[in-house]
This record gives sequence, C-alpha cells and structure tokens, in this order.
Amino acid sequence: MKPVIKILEERVTAAMAAVTSRDDCAAIVRPSTDPKFGDYQANGVMALAKKTQTSPRKLAEDVVKNLDVDDICEPPEIAGPGFINLRLKVEFLADRLLEINKASANLGIDKTTEPKTIVVDFSCPNIAKQMHVGHLRSTIIGDCICRMLEFLGHNVIRQNHIGDWGTQFGMLCALLSRKRIEMGKRGEKVSNTIILADLEAFYREAKQLFDTDENFANEARGAVVGLHSGAQRWTELWRQIVRESKNHYEQIYETLNVELYDHHVRGESAYKNDLPKVVEDLKNVGLAQPSMGAICVFPDSERFKNKKGYPLGLMIQKSDGAYLYATTDLAALRYRVNELKANAIIYVTDARQKLHFEMLFAVAKMAGWVSDDIELSHVMFGSVLGEDGTPLKTRSGENVKLKELLDEAVERAKQIVEEKNPELPPDKKEKIARAVGIGAVKYADYSNNRTSDYVFSFNKMLAMDGNTAPYMQYAYARIKSIERKAQTKDVDIEDELGGLESLSLTEPAELDLAKYLIRYGEAIQAAAADYRPNYLTAYLYELAQKFSVFYTNCPVLKAEPAKRPTRLLLCDLTARTIKHGLSELLGIEVVEQM
Ligand code: ARG
Repeated sequence: MKPVIKILEERVTAAMAAVTSRDDCAAIVRPSTDPKFGDYQANGVMALAKKTQTSPRKLAEDVVKNLDVDDICEPPEIAGPGFINLRLKVEFLADRLLEINKASANLGIDKTTEPKTIVVDFSCPNIAKQMHVGHLRSTIIGDCICRMLEFLGHNVIRQNHIGDWGTQFGMLCALLSRKRIEMGKRGEKVSNTIILADLEAFYREAKQLFDTDENFANEARGAVVGLHSGAQRWTELWRQIVRESKNHYEQIYETLNVELYDHHVRGESAYKNDLPKVVEDLKNVGLAQPSMGAICVFPDSERFKNKKGYPLGLMIQKSDGAYLYATTDLAALRYRVNELKANAIIYVTDARQKLHFEMLFAVAKMAGWVSDDIELSHVMFGSVLGEDGTPLKTRSGENVKLKELLDEAVERAKQIVEEKNPELPPDKKEKIARAVGIGAVKYADYSNNRTSDYVFSFNKMLAMDGNTAPYMQYAYARIKSIERKAQTKDVDIEDELGGLESLSLTEPAELDLAKYLIRYGEAIQAAAADYRPNYLTAYLYELAQKFSVFYTNCPVLKAEPAKRPTRLLLCDLTARTIKHGLSELLGIEVVEQM
C-alpha cells in the first residue's frame, strides 16, 4: 500500500496542475499538527498563487473543485490564506487497518518500484586496536540504514572497510615474530594462533620497542618490505593479527545484534595493488601533480582552500612513495562503482571526516570515475560525550572501550530487572537484562539526531519513561500481557482477528491511534531517505504514547462484543509495529515480559 501522504500529494498536485496547466506544481502535503485542522494539510497553493499571480484563496477553491479524494477523505476544507485541510474517512481508515492485518510480515508496506544497488560503508575499525565508543555510532547507524533500505527492497551491499594495511603492521608482525621465537626457545609449543589477549597492549609494546630498540626497528622496517613484496613469512603473521582482531570485533557485532559478517569485510589491504594505478590514472588525466615532494590532486580551488586562501590538495602519495588513506578510498570507490555496480555509495563516519569525503567525491567526479547519476553520501555523525560535556573518556583519560561499556549496560539492566521482577527465573532475567541493556545503548544513540553530539548517560538511557528502549520494550510487553490475559479469559485472539471484515472506530483515542498506525510506512521512508534513525524512534515513541492514551480510555478485554475485535486489532497492530521497528529495523530485541 502506498503511504496515504504520497497518494494525497499526487492527487492534490494533479488538481493544481489541472487548474493552472503548469507542470511545476507541488502540493506539499504534511500531517496536521492539530487535529482541529484535519489529518493532513496541503500547503503548496500559496507558492503556486505567487507564481501565477492569483489570489491564493481563490486558487485553493479551484483546486478543491478539481480535487478527487472522495475515496479517502471527507470533503476538503480551506483554511487561512489557502491551506487545504484533509480529514480521512473512517471507512478508509478501517480498510487500511484490515489490509495491514492481512499483510502479516511487511505490515502492508510496499517495496520500492525502483530498487537500487546501494553500498553502505560502515563500522570499519582499525586492526590491532580495540573498538572504542567512537566506532559504536558508525556500526549501529550503518546497520540500521542497511536494514531500512533492505526492507524497502533495495539491493544493499555492506562493506566493512577495515584498517588492515599500513606501515604499523611492520612493527606488529615483528613483535609477533619475536614472541613466537621466544616461545620456541622456552620449549613451548608455538601454536599458529597466539592469542593477542590485549590488542592494545600489544600495539603499545610494539610501538615502544620500535622507538627505543634499533634492532627491532630494523626488523620492523624489514617486515614492511616483506609485506609489500608478499613474502610468505610476514604475510602469515599479518594474517594472524588480522584474524585475532576480527575475532574481537565479531563478538561485538554479535552482542550489538549487527548484521556484519566476514564476507562483508573488504579492508584497505584489498586495494593495495590498485594504488599505483590510481595515482597513474590521475596523472594521465592531468589531475595529479607534484606538491612539495608529494603528489596531490587539487579539486575546485574555490571550494577547497586552507585558512590562508591557498588551494587545498588531496594527498595521494607521500614523498617517500607511500600511499595514503585517500588513495585507498579512491581505489575502493572505483571498485564499488565498476565491480559492485553501485547506484549509490554511503559512508557512515564521524563528522571529522567531512572534508576528506567532500574532496574524495570531488576528485572522483573530476576524474570521470563516478557519473552524475551515482549518489555519493557522507552520512556523518557527532561525538559521544561524557556527562561533563567533553568527549567520553575513562577516568584516566583513555578511550572508553566498547565492550566494557556494553557489559556495564547489561549489568545495570540486571539490577533493574531484579528490582521490578524478583520472582522471574534467572535465565529469563538474564535474557531481559541483555535485551534491555544493549537495547538502551543502541536506542539512545538512534534517538538522537545523528549530526549532533550527545551525552552518554546510563541513567537516562535506562529510564523507564521518556523516549528510551526500556520504555518501548515495556510498551510492547504490556500489550503482550493483555494477550496473555485474554487466554485466561478464553478469548481466542487469532479467531477474533483472523476473519475480521469490518471495524468499529468511534472513540477519539481509537481514531487517533488508528490514524497513526497507518503512517508507519511513511516514517520508514522518511528515515531511509535522510538516513536518520531518529525519525523512526520518534515515530515508535509517539505510537507507544498514543497506545497508552487509547488503553487508558478504552477497555479491551472488557469491551462490549461489538467493539472488542476492533480494540484487539489496535493492540495487535501496535505490538506488531513496535516489534517490527525495534527488532527488524533497529536490531533491538523485544521481550514478552519485563
Ligand atoms: N578506519 C577508518 C577510521 O577508523 C574509517 C574508515 C571509513 N571508511 C572509509 N571508506 N574511509 O577512521
């Protein structure tokens, strides 16, 4: 089913075009902010009146005369200078709900008629370093974007562009090699996997040796050369370090319920052989040029300049011949366009990389590697702050590790479950605590406008009221408890809803909830179009609130027989919508009981 707002937009636009014989009409239909003015409002007449130099009021009257919405709305009304107010017919509303009821899994939301191949580049941790809270946002926002686009019918290709290449691997491999030799000397069995229990300590140790031990530094440099020439000994060690790191972050993905697996990894190392060609090709089209020993590309000097007003260059090769982050990104971009056949590429990283991506996109377009019909987007986000308003750090000033943060969330959720529901069996408590704890961290992130910074607060995200995961999970569990209660009263919900052919929507709270339920598809489309999960959380939160008003005012199980099926359906559709939003699109588990 097409979202109602889309249908109304088309119909009103058609009427405007019929009246003015113009093809640049836009109805601009929005949900009304006040039910006094109906359910939707078309605001486009005023702009059109200006263009055609007519009276907006008169134009609105003509548009309404030509407007065909009988099947959906009560007779339209004109308000103010030329707003057209539209109120849904109750029969239309009832039909929609009944159709959603039948449409089980997709809740009546159509797939796009124009599926695109969309590459989403997200998460992308750096090897041999623990993932920290900064990686949280890319990982979960990226996952949500993929889930929404997939649900709408696009062909989504997830790409985890991990940082698995660079000169630092020389020292890491050299250290691992040393450790294995020492193990051998001590007579210990050198297994193929030396568990790098603490990757960061390993990295620190390597760095410190590199800076202080000349022999080690030479070994490390030798290792870099070995890696570059593909020498088996070093490649083996490198592979092992990458494997260990992957184990670490795969566990985090699993905990976060993020769909990112080994086959989505295509790290920086995958492009190492393409880098000379990238530079070569950019030289050949006259874009790459020497700049103070290095090689740079200068895209649009009006747009990209430094503080002093000089043109800003994107460096693609250093004076020592080494390639850079940008070179790899250019190679990756070509691969995604040429091999993956992307119609759109979305990069989910923090806002500090804004300039990098602007320049990258500009260079790729100038080089003719990306045609105009391919959409390149940097979906950026702000920082996670501590309660003091500065970027979240541990007491000793280090980055907060993601794993510790998630463990603490679950621990705190456990205490809440313990207080609320001490009599539940331990394994149930455990399951609820996981769903609530991890859900709270994710939901708090999603519910903020992604471009803003936000303050990380366990107390706020675990609160039972407000726009939080526990509130939403509780709203769901509450509806489930109505269903459980129904069973004890011998009400067979499946039976009552299965063959349901007509509804009785009469109470204001019923109508309000029903009108909001049919807008779920609209919310997903808005969230997917702007890559903003907070549109979706805002919708779900408002839905839960409307349900709450309905449930306070309208008895369900005790309702008279003529009303009960309608009310049961409103309960069921609300539960299904919340469950779909949370678990399918946000990857947050729901629980039947809390
Ligand atoms: N590894 C990078 C970092 O941690 C992020 C990579 C983002 N993706 C990309 N194609 N540049 O900052």
